[in-house]
Amino acid sequence: MASKTEQGAQRLFFALWPPPLVRAQLQQASRVVVGKKGRAVAGANLHLTLVFLGSVDQAGRQCMEQAADTVRGDRFTLEFSQVGYWSRPRILWLGPKETPPQLEALVTDLVRVLKSCGHDPDARRYQAHLTLARKASRPAEVASIEAIRWNVDRFCLVESITAQAGPIYRVLKYWEFIQ
Ligand code: 2AM
Repeated sequence: MASKTEQGAQRLFFALWPPPLVRAQLQQASRVVVGKKGRAVAGANLHLTLVFLGSVDQAGRQCMEQAADTVRGDRFTLEFSQVGYWSRPRILWLGPKETPPQLEALVTDLVRVLKSCGHDPDARRYQAHLTLARKASRPAEVASIEAIRWNVDRFCLVESITAQAGPIYRVLKYWEFIQ
């Protein structure tokens, strides 16, 4: 894996990127759930991470894109209705009550094929979550939200660019699911 100082390295991750209508609903939910409880993730940045890669050089990126070409995804519906809070990283998040097996399979397959590119899998179990806010305080009560349904039919590779006003995420490439 490339170091952050290496020339041409990019900070990358695989993700599900919400289409505009779903994004608008997520933004609305974020306003309700986050309020003043934390630093809300910019609406344009809301996404669901599949695999975080960190700093990757050009050869690594090429290898990872080719590896992703071999992953066949199956369509599924994500239903966001669960508001969660992790106290250690102080993250307020939105997630599905149950993770669809197709999503579990997608992450497992990606992690498996990425190993050949030197990617070190995260030892923690995958927990599907969409970060709404960072530096968040624990919500006194769990806001209930109306479930947001998202028919997922592709995944993508995203670059995270560090900017003064906060990170900018740029989708580099999409992979459509086979079925
Ligand atoms: P998070 O939403 O739980 O913070 C881009 O940084 C995306 O990759 C974020 O959605 C972030 O997840 C995820 N990610 C996972 N592991 C990370 C790490 N070690 N450092 C930064 N981001 C990470």
